[in-house]
Amino acid sequence: MSKHTITLTVNGESRGGEVESRLLLVHFIREQLSLTGTHIGCDTTSCGACTVLLDGRPIKSCTIFAVQADGHSVETIEGVAQGGDLHPLQAGFWEQHGLQCGFCTPGMIMTAKALLASNPNPSEDEIRHGIAGNLCRCTGYVKIVEAIQYAAAKLREQQPEEVAA
Ligand code: FES
Ligand code: FES
Repeated sequence: MSKHTITLTVNGESRGGEVESRLLLVHFIREQLSLTGTHIGCDTTSCGACTVLLDGRPIKSCTIFAVQADGHSVETIEGVAQGGDLHPLQAGFWEQHGLQCGFCTPGMIMTAKALLASNPNPSEDEIRHGIAGNLCRCTGYVKIVEAIQYAAAKLREQQPEEVAA
């Protein structure tokens, strides 16, 4: 099996490795980088538990090969908190009880982060549409939506001029 050397930016740091052509990005992230906050729920592009941001866009990391991320930027749940403080999305899931078992939560947060970056003030329908690719077997989604609404409000408070721009 041929091996490839890849280098990518992960949570702001340059990371590299030797990978087989068929290695999925999620396995590279979890097994070679030891960033196990990215979960594997299905391995078949169905659940969204493996969602990370690739150049700012949410992707299911069980759906692309690690070599395809070569030269790109990846953000995982481990990169979301800033300076030891919870990101407003993390705080929102905490405050609004947006999780039960927590298995879907990292993927939900990464998807929601991309959603709020492109739409700082989404309607409930837009939030539900935005997280449609992320499945939760526990919560019924109501609290997840409330968590994202909480985060959206906090982010708008923090960055009013950017939102208005
Ligand atoms: S593990 Fe990737 S979508 Fe389920
Ligand atoms: S909180 Fe359990 S799967 Fe979502």
